[in-house]
Amino acid sequence: MKPINIGLLGIGTVGGGTYTVLKRNQEEIARRAGREIKVKMIADKDLDRARSFADHDVIVTDNAHEVTTHPDIDIVVELIGGQTIAKNLILEAIAHGKHVVTANKALLANHGTEIFAVARTKGVMVAFEAAVAGGIPIIKALREGLTANRITWIAGIINGTSNFILSEMRDKGLSFEQVLAEAQKLGYAEADPTYDIEGIDAAHKITLMSAIAFGIPVQFSKVYTEGITKLTGEDIRYAEELGYRIKLLGITKRVEKGIELRVHPTLIPVRRLIANVEGVMNAIVVKGDAVGATLYYGAGAGAEPTASSVIADLVDVTRMQTAEPMHRVPTLSFQPDLLSDTPVIPMEDVETSYYLRMQVIDKPGVMAEITRIVAENNISISALIQKEPSSDSDRVSIIMLTHLTVEKNINAAIARIESLPVVTSKVIRIRIEELNN
Ligand code: HSE
Repeated sequence: MKPINIGLLGIGTVGGGTYTVLKRNQEEIARRAGREIKVKMIADKDLDRARSFADHDVIVTDNAHEVTTHPDIDIVVELIGGQTIAKNLILEAIAHGKHVVTANKALLANHGTEIFAVARTKGVMVAFEAAVAGGIPIIKALREGLTANRITWIAGIINGTSNFILSEMRDKGLSFEQVLAEAQKLGYAEADPTYDIEGIDAAHKITLMSAIAFGIPVQFSKVYTEGITKLTGEDIRYAEELGYRIKLLGITKRVEKGIELRVHPTLIPVRRLIANVEGVMNAIVVKGDAVGATLYYGAGAGAEPTASSVIADLVDVTRMQTAEPMHRVPTLSFQPDLLSDTPVIPMEDVETSYYLRMQVIDKPGVMAEITRIVAENNISISALIQKEPSSDSDRVSIIMLTHLTVEKNINAAIARIESLPVVTSKVIRIRIEELNN
C-alpha cells in the first residue's frame, strides 16, 4: 500500500522529536498502522534547522501554505503553536480535505468548537492527544478506554513547570521567585512563564478533558483559574504538618447543578499517589462509576514524549481515514449532535473544603470572634491550629481547615474576618480536595 503523506508545520522541539521517532521506529509503526507514515514536507521559518532533519526526498519550505494546500499531503501536523496563524493554517488544511494532528491546546481550548465543526463538514479528523499532558495517552483513555463509564471527576497535575516549582519550594525551602529563576535557568520555564505559573496552560488542558469526559462543548471562557504565584513556603509547610501537599490541580467534576471546571492550588492528602508526583512529571486521576479511580502518570512535555502522542494520532488517523466519518471515534468522544448543554457552574457555587491562614493580634476573644463569623456563615471547622508567637511579637498565625462548604460562604466569611481590626493580614485561602469519592 502506498505511504500516507505527512506535512509537518514547525520543526521545533516537538516537530524534531516527531521526525526522529517516526524515522527511528518506522518499520514498527508501519506494521501497526498498516502502511508507511512518511513525512513528505516540512515547513519552518528556520530552513537550516528544517534541512538538518529532512532526508533527501523531503520537501522543505518556509511557506506553510504550500503544505496545507499541497495535493499529495494527507495529514497536516500543526506544531507551530499560537492562535492566529495556526488557526488559519488548520482551517486551510481542512478546507483542502486534509486531516489535522495538533498539539495546540490554547487554540483548541479557545476555538475547538469551530474547528471541529468545520472538520466535520469536510469529513476529516482533528486529533490532539499531544495537546494534553504530553506523552500520557489521556485523550485516548477518556475517549475510548473509559467509554463504558459515567465519568464522575478528573483531577490532574497537568503543568510540569508549576509542579517543578512547588516540589522545589517544598524540598529546598526556597521561595517561589527563587525556584522560578532556577526553572528558567534549567529551561523548564519559558522566559515568559505566565501561562504555566498562572494556571492558564492547565486551564486549556482541563477544558479539553472536561469536554471529552462529559460530552459538553469546549468552553475555556468558563474555567476558574488561579495560579501558584502567591503561594508561600509557610503554607506549604503548614499543609505538610496537617498531612497535606499543595499541588496545582486542574479539576472537573460532575455535580448536581452542572459541571465544575477549575484550576487552582489544592491541598491533597499526602497519602494519595498523585500527591507524590514530583518535579516536571504530570499525573491525572479519572474517576469513573464502573472502573473507580484510575491514575495516568508520565512526562507532560519534552520532544520524544510529546512526539509519542503526535505519532499515536498519526497512526489512528491512518487506520481510520478509510472509515465512514460516522464510524470513526468522535472527536469529543460523544457523537457531535448529542453533546449536552449541562452548564459549567460559577465558582461561587462550587462546594469544597478550605485551608485558611491569617495573622491576628494575640489577645483574649480573638479566636472566639473568628470562629463565630465562620459559624454564622454555616461553615464547620475540621481543624484549628494557633502557632506560638515569636518572642518579640504580639502577632500569631491561625490555621483553620473547614469541612465542605460553598465558595460563596467562604468568601463572605473571609470578607468579614479581614475587616476585624485584630486581623492584621489578608486571609490566605487554599482549597482542599480529598480525592476519595
Ligand atoms: N509548559 C507545559 C508544562 C508543557 O510546563 O507542563 C506544555 O504544555
